[in-house]
Amino acid sequence: MRKKVYHLNLGKSQLRNSKIALLPGDPFRVLKIAEKVRKQFGGNIEELAWKREFKTILCNTSIKPVLVTSTGIGGPSTSIVIEELAMLGIKTFVRVGTTGAIQKRIKLGDVIITTGAVRLDGASTHYAPIEYPAVADYKVVDSLTKAADKSNVRYHVGITASSDTFYPGQERYDSFTGHVLRRLQGSMKELQRLNVLNYEMESSTLLTLCSAMGLRGGSVSGVIVNRTVSENIKEESLRIGEDNAIKVAVGSLEYLL
Ligand code: URA
Repeated sequence: MRKKVYHLNLGKSQLRNSKIALLPGDPFRVLKIAEKVRKQFGGNIEELAWKREFKTILCNTSIKPVLVTSTGIGGPSTSIVIEELAMLGIKTFVRVGTTGAIQKRIKLGDVIITTGAVRLDGASTHYAPIEYPAVADYKVVDSLTKAADKSNVRYHVGITASSDTFYPGQERYDSFTGHVLRRLQGSMKELQRLNVLNYEMESSTLLTLCSAMGLRGGSVSGVIVNRTVSENIKEESLRIGEDNAIKVAVGSLEYLL
């Protein structure tokens, strides 16, 4: 029997020499992305594995193969995906996520193209000291902005904050206890003043690991809530944010493949 990486349950030959992976958090977003890749680049799609939160579909496009794998939520599971896909030969990693904006000017459905991330996660500190920057590969950023221009999706390019928790780490008070540790109180205002655009939970891990390992990393996220306006995430905003992030990520393949 051929050896498979443990969590993703994938063997190298299954990837057909894929070099690029699109990484949503949600396993149920994998098929949606793969179908968009097939629609835009032709070929066929094939489910390779689904274990825990890690689902993988291979897109055999008419140009080159593209892998779509879900990371689950947060840094720890994202680090597993980067490690195991890197072992299988993936060189370019593009997160396709959803996010909460913290600047007033950002609208629901806009996308954020991350140039760098504030490392509020723990996983990335197992790979590089906290002084090490979580920065995106400039070619990936360039490809994502070109794709956003081409698909007429409103976008913002800049710094993202990546937190290990959705509630206290992103200074949310609409939680079970409503309590946020003293050291995190006021943290959203501070990030707003530092021109941070948004909160999510994976980019700092992805970007730190990719840079530290000599791989290319990038991240695009659809805005599903603007925290300066409301804490409620509506179904319709989720759909538009998700669709626009997918449009831009898949569009970027035209430049990255
Ligand atoms: N994902 C997050 O981590 N935060 C948000 O506000 C929305 C999506």
